[in-house]
Amino acid sequence: MAAGRVVGVTGANGYIGSHIVKVLLERGHNVRAGARLPHNDERVGHLQAMKSGKRGTLEIHPTDILVYDDVESLLDGCTDVIHTAATVKIKSSSPQESIIDPSLEGTRNVIRSVRQNNSIRNVIHTSSTAAIRPMKWKNGITLASDSWANDATIENNPYGLAKVLAEREIRSWHTEEGSPRGVRLVTIHPCMVFGPPLSSYHLRGSLTILMMLADRSMPAIIPMNINIVDVRDVAEAHVRALDIGADGGRYLVTAGSLWMRDVVSLLRTAYPNHKWPKFSIPYPIALVAAALHPSASISWARTHLGTVLNWDSRPASEDLAIDWLDPSKSVVDTFNPIFDKKWI
Ligand SMILES: NC(=O)c1ccc[n+]([C@@H]2O[C@H](COP(=O)([O-])OP(=O)(O)OC[C@H]3O[C@@H](n4cnc5c(N)ncnc54)[C@H](OP(=O)(O)O)[C@@H]3O)[C@@H](O)[C@H]2O)c1
Repeated sequence: MAAGRVVGVTGANGYIGSHIVKVLLERGHNVRAGARLPHNDERVGHLQAMKSGKRGTLEIHPTDILVYDDVESLLDGCTDVIHTAATVKIKSSSPQESIIDPSLEGTRNVIRSVRQNNSIRNVIHTSSTAAIRPMKWKNGITLASDSWANDATIENNPYGLAKVLAEREIRSWHTEEGSPRGVRLVTIHPCMVFGPPLSSYHLRGSLTILMMLADRSMPAIIPMNINIVDVRDVAEAHVRALDIGADGGRYLVTAGSLWMRDVVSLLRTAYPNHKWPKFSIPYPIALVAAALHPSASISWARTHLGTVLNWDSRPASEDLAIDWLDPSKSVVDTFNPIFDKKWI
């Protein structure tokens, strides 16, 4: 990486954003970390603790991604942008305001600010497998980055729609303006992200499913195959993409998959003193339970229960030179800080 870089990170206090900030600081880079509530200790205390003992500098900026002036003040004079901020929720009673707007309007604000800042040379946008996976796919299929979730609607898949709309927006800006101006764009597409949380605030989002096993709010094991990538690899992919990877690259970052029964078995072996769910529930009951659960939906359950979907992440491992951490390690390592710090 070139010296004198200033990397603006949106959603910097989030689960993935925090690991990105950590890697950037470890590499000696100057980081402008955008956080919407910079004085909230649970959300930002772990970032403030990173300030000491690292080579790079860290400034935390109050940034509501929906407020253009906040985004402009975050990115003013930056050389690079890593845009991770979005709502990570698959269901809401107000999906437009709470899921789609933060992704789409937030990304529009980032684009508008990049237009104003000639110093910015690289834009790394956090997308998702949700922008790639259509609602219907054949059990056992392998999807690659040429696929789009074009059938996502606000009713059936608001999160997928939000990720598609935001990515399309930033890609059309890149084709029409960014690329002719010499600004690189890379989009990173993680599947379900596990691995050590840096704050108790990170126990929501993708870690919810593991926390539901740990606190047994999910009392039995559902027949779900989970595609997993480690948060440390996701952060590496974003930081490496600042320097390597194809301009316009659309990189799936996925390490492999585990059935939930195997996840529980790994956790029981690693943490034998904790009580984990014992019994598996059959598919029809799991479908009804998921449909009734406040964070799931029937369409989500039909797509994700009892089925296997594979992802082709070879382009990311080749172009970004990443050897994926084993999903078993990601599952087990998730709980090291949780038990050490008594977050459960
Ligand atoms: N975790 C996964 O499994 C996964 C998989 C694929 C893709 N992704 C993508 O990865 C990115 C980061 O997700 P994550 O897992 O790290 O989730 P997270 O911990 O919830 O982080 C999301 C970040 O976005 C911020 N944000 C949301 N709305 C905002 C707003 N209006 N203004 C400013 N900041 C706002 C959050 O701020 P607050 O803390 O203030 O809410 C938080 O910092 C998202 O784009 C997500 O779609 C995640």
